Amino acid sequence: MSTLFSPVTVRGVTFPNRVVVSPLCMYSADDGVGQPWHFAHLSTFARGKAGLVFAEATGVVPEGRITPRCLGIWNDAQIEPLKPITAFIEEMGSVPGIQLAHAGRKASTAPPFLGGTPLPADDPDAWQVVGPSAQAVGPNFPVPHELTTAEIADLVEKFAMAARRSLQAGFKVIELHGAHGYLMHSFLSPLSNVRTDEYGGDIQGRMRFPLETARAVRQEVGENVPLFFRISAVDGADGGWSMDDSVVLAKALGEAGIDVVDCSSGGVAGAPRFRTDDAGKPLTRSSARQPGFQVPYAQRIKDETSLKSMAVGVIIDPHQAEEIASSGQADFVALGREIMHNPFWPLHAAEALGVDPDFKMWPKQYAWAVDRRSQIASLNRS
Ligand SMILES: Cc1cc2nc3c(=O)[nH]c(=O)nc-3n(C[C@H](O)[C@H](O)[C@H](O)COP(=O)(O)O)c2cc1C
Repeated sequence: MSTLFSPVTVRGVTFPNRVVVSPLCMYSADDGVGQPWHFAHLSTFARGKAGLVFAEATGVVPEGRITPRCLGIWNDAQIEPLKPITAFIEEMGSVPGIQLAHAGRKASTAPPFLGGTPLPADDPDAWQVVGPSAQAVGPNFPVPHELTTAEIADLVEKFAMAARRSLQAGFKVIELHGAHGYLMHSFLSPLSNVRTDEYGGDIQGRMRFPLETARAVRQEVGENVPLFFRISAVDGADGGWSMDDSVVLAKALGEAGIDVVDCSSGGVAGAPRFRTDDAGKPLTRSSARQPGFQVPYAQRIKDETSLKSMAVGVIIDPHQAEEIASSGQADFVALGREIMHNPFWPLHAAEALGVDPDFKMWPKQYAWAVDRRSQIASLNRS
């Protein structure tokens, strides 16, 4: 009996299994509009039968994109090209989700395959970045414009409008991006938020903008839509956000209408994200990237709050994923790079775990042929 491949229900949505495609930026949109690449990319994971397929960090305003090529959902024209994607994901029995994002002071950069660095100010595609305080990410990053309280209120509204458009596009789950040093995380962390008004100061002040956003999105989408919130559980830097802070935040997010906390880490200083051990202690880049290194964050959220949690980060082996789910460390198990490497990972995992010995999970167009392939292989063995 597999927990990983057992269904789970959150609000009005039942997920066929707990394998999740983590949001993965593709840097392939045109003025925020989804392209054939997005269909190909996301539909492949649905054919692979992941339970929940997240579309990438999607800008709620143009300035909220990480790069000029990131996906956006700030206008109605961006809805239509997403509809065939969500329809196909559902046709495959998977659930389509979208991550709504604002990149804050880490916006206006080049795609990683073109260098990934901030665009020079005189680049025609560059824009003024914004943040909680006029503090740059690091020496080679631009100084952000410090958002006024009126601008913060407007952004809360923009997240809610983006959530409305996401539902119109057919998404059934919404995740708010509160991690990796982007706008919401930069409000949470004392390393990037040195405001002295009601949006800064102690943890209650620093949580205000993310919580207002969560409440506004919940109000917009109604009671049936599952809401995920991605956190950087620890900053991994001296004086930064800690796991204890994450527990405080998670409880407040629950009251604001969030159902699942997706536990990532790092990113506020612009350095590699994966830099900390369970206690938030900095590690070298190579030692940090151990299998399941962020799972303890998801476990603490699950143990110390009433919310569900999602684990992510170097989850590769089917038995590893099964152990995370069956031991109750997390309710959902998200994969990024491994599922890009093998988009049919869930089908192969189901086979490896003995869940699908007869290839019944496979799309019918493939199942009969894949089954025959295995019969031939067993004949050859005998
Ligand atoms: C190509 C790529 C794009 C990514 N894009 C996003 C994104 O849009 N939003 C986000 O929260 N994380 C993003 N991430 C982080 C992943 O969602 C995931 O958390 C991370 O890769 C760790 O999981 P993994 O070890 O299974 O890859 C991205 C990672 C990669 C490799």
